[in-house]
Amino acid sequence: MEVTIEKLDNFGRGITYIDEKIVFVENALPGEIVDIEIINEKKKYKEAQVLKIIKKSNDRIKPLCPYSNECGGCDLNHLDYSKENEFKYTKVKELVKKYLNEDIEIKEISFSKENTYRNKIVLHGKSKVLGQYKKHSNEIIPINKCLLVNDKINEIIEQVKEDNIEEVTIKTSNDLTNILVDIKGEITNHDKLLNIANVLIVNNKLLSNDKSIISPINDKKYYVSSKSFFQVNRFLTSSLYDEVRNTVKKIKPNRVLDLYCGTGTIGIYISDYCKEIIGIDYNKSNIEDANKNIELNKCNNIKFICDKVENRIEAFKDIDLIVVDPPRSGLDAHTREILKELDSKTIIYVSCDIMTLMRDLKDLNTSYNINYIKPFNMFPRTYHVECVCVLNSK
Ligand SMILES: C[S@@+](CC[C@H](N)C(=O)[O-])C[C@H]1O[C@@H](n2cnc3c(N)ncnc32)[C@H](O)[C@@H]1O
Repeated sequence: MEVTIEKLDNFGRGITYIDEKIVFVENALPGEIVDIEIINEKKKYKEAQVLKIIKKSNDRIKPLCPYSNECGGCDLNHLDYSKENEFKYTKVKELVKKYLNEDIEIKEISFSKENTYRNKIVLHGKSKVLGQYKKHSNEIIPINKCLLVNDKINEIIEQVKEDNIEEVTIKTSNDLTNILVDIKGEITNHDKLLNIANVLIVNNKLLSNDKSIISPINDKKYYVSSKSFFQVNRFLTSSLYDEVRNTVKKIKPNRVLDLYCGTGTIGIYISDYCKEIIGIDYNKSNIEDANKNIELNKCNNIKFICDKVENRIEAFKDIDLIVVDPPRSGLDAHTREILKELDSKTIIYVSCDIMTLMRDLKDLNTSYNINYIKPFNMFPRTYHVECVCVLNSK
């Protein structure tokens, strides 16, 4: 069936209509005429795949990645990178208009030029096949190399790809001087891996002297363990954190909450401009690293609590600034209520999910004005967009 693609949806899929019903078409771009096959039909929408491109968009590029059609890691390999940035910017702008119905300033999108931005990969294995999950499936697509990660990570993939591995996590420091490998499965050459990796964990057993690598972000450095969270874009994280730091420099807050603090990265990054900071994260490994990061950065004005934000948030008063950087699920309803009651002068919301950001901003908007939103393309080649949003108490 021949259709014309009208625009991209929030997940980077082409949108067309058949008998007034919306159809989502993967790997199709606006303006293209494509021959499609319906692969899934629901009450309100259909999903389709492209059989043939009849009229190609000028924005279409030939994917550099040989696994592009199958691998579930990327969504937009077929779209020119500058158009991808435009798509993400427009997506933020349109959603703000739809959900907040306000003339909020959306600053220019920041992006990095380099392709090899990822400092981390997790690969899955079965019967000596190591790779990424196929789109919408648990089938493993064997991969020898990922174009989004740095060469050091690809070297490790090369070393272990023929081993009998269930799962491997490979991380590097942002300056590529440190490598961490955490394997579930059997490996043949421990010694060779120990020569390359600073941290080697096999089946939860630490085989190296160190259990974490040290990764710099601008003028700060951080311990990162296997189970700890760390921003994956090694080129753009400092710009993201600078956006937060620039607001903090202006307001010079006394008491600050760093909620969903991970390994304490943002709190420590802004600590020179605040009197006192309390960071909260429920992941034990994060908080262990965060406490070591206090010493590493000689910070004496920051404390970390290992617990759920929603369990602790009520206890605080007289807060000047709250930084929140929740997971994709965003802020839970209880936390949002307390944030409104706390009436902090400023909230800086760092979000990795535009839909939950919209929900949360709509709610917080009853007590806070939304000053601006700045998008960051932290995850090139995927549909995801990160945003920093500054809110001021009404
Ligand atoms: C997007 S990460 C941000 C980490 C950090 N701000 C950074 O930039 O590296 C979200 C963090 O929220 C933590 N988290 C998720 N749900 C939580 C909850 N209910 N309470 C506390 N921490 C939570 C996770 O452990 C993770 O470290």
